[in-house]
Amino acid sequence: MNGPVPVEVLKQHLIDPEICIRCNTCEETCPIDAITHDENNYVVRADTCNGCMACISPCPTGAIDNWRDVLKAEAYAVEAQFTWDELPVQDDALAGRGVIGEAAQGNQGASGGGASSAAESAESTESTESAEPVPGGADLVRGSLVPPWSAARPYVNLYTHKTPVQATVVGNYRVTDASTESDIHHIVLDFGKQPFPVLEGQSIGIIAPGTTADGRAHHARQYSIASPRDGERAGYNNLALTVKRVTKDHQGQAVGGVCSNYLCDLKKGDVVNVMGPFGSTFLMPNHADSHLLMICTGTGAAPMRAMTEYRRRRRMKGATGKLMLFFGARTQGELPYFGPLRNLPKDFIDTNLAFSRTPGQPKRYVQDAMRERAADVAALLRHDHTYIYVCGLKGMEDGVLQVLQTIAGDAGLDWQTLWQRMKAEGRLHLETY
Ligand code: A2P
Repeated sequence: MNGPVPVEVLKQHLIDPEICIRCNTCEETCPIDAITHDENNYVVRADTCNGCMACISPCPTGAIDNWRDVLKAEAYAVEAQFTWDELPVQDDALAGRGVIGEAAQGNQGASGGGASSAAESAESTESTESAEPVPGGADLVRGSLVPPWSAARPYVNLYTHKTPVQATVVGNYRVTDASTESDIHHIVLDFGKQPFPVLEGQSIGIIAPGTTADGRAHHARQYSIASPRDGERAGYNNLALTVKRVTKDHQGQAVGGVCSNYLCDLKKGDVVNVMGPFGSTFLMPNHADSHLLMICTGTGAAPMRAMTEYRRRRRMKGATGKLMLFFGARTQGELPYFGPLRNLPKDFIDTNLAFSRTPGQPKRYVQDAMRERAADVAALLRHDHTYIYVCGLKGMEDGVLQVLQTIAGDAGLDWQTLWQRMKAEGRLHLETY
């Protein structure tokens, strides 16, 4: 039996700067703003984190699931964490004695997040007894934290920032009209004889060469894989990425995106440092009668292309589920993969395009296209084997959830109940940025 736990020893939640790919998922997921970042690191405020674990499952790399037992008075401040290149070692004298901080007391069990050793040890302390849910709790996590039941098992984190794998560029071409501002590239990377097993919906990290202004190595940037598990070319150990050259920030100010420009300028034969693969929930179902409802904008098409192509290859082997796609772009010329998409048979995929800036035409978003196809979307929502994937601009997430609610309501479905069920069953996957 354990003796009483001294409350002044804190089990401090930390993020491993060596593994973290700075994707912002944890900061977006945290229901109480305990996570913040600077240009160097993502960090956790010791006096705010309540150990609700909501951030643990969504983290694609597992960098988030790190804990150190420290004297409460000596908890690592965010200012110190910002400077770290690696996590501090655990003080052996304190190891195993920590409890999750005061902010956590009374809040354990509020989250639907994944179990971790820290969660388990917190649950074994007295502080967990008077459980009061975090306001909103895990409901703030809007999509599934689990994969579809029939998803294949992914490999994750085979290669890290310290031990990347080298891939060779075997193709790099533009997939948007040359006359448009959106310079989106389809880049094919070959891994040769080195193992790099992936699934549709996973992502990889690319480490751009060179250093930041203060002399640090660049952090990896995360890109969704655009090709199926058996290769961009079936049977080859390669994969494709869909990369938009970043030339402006969100405010429209001119900036040169370090990694996107590096990638878009690569030539055949160039060698790239790769981390990953990442992601264990945004995965496709593998049972033959599962339906895919895919909603994306711009480069958010990458995982949809991967899943669609896998289904196309499998179609001959008996996959019978429906595929319905809603795809938004500014204009037809700015929609990546427009040509190949148009060539897919109509009885294989039901494609709906939405253009927001076609001259002389009203602005049209994916939500508008979904509204127009409400009866068919509702039919999919009614089906227990429908899996929804949303990928692209952050702004569309609210709009898409809103239109799903409206379509469900008009069809006599209780969206709140359906939403919870789809989340729990790994049938609602959101990846927006
Ligand atoms: P908009 O013309 O309003 O920017 P981008 O080319 O910037 O990646 O955007 C892809 C598409 O997503 C564009 O058509 C863009 O329209 C559209 N979009 C922007 N905001 C939203 C939103 N909140 N919901 C759905 N689509 C959006």
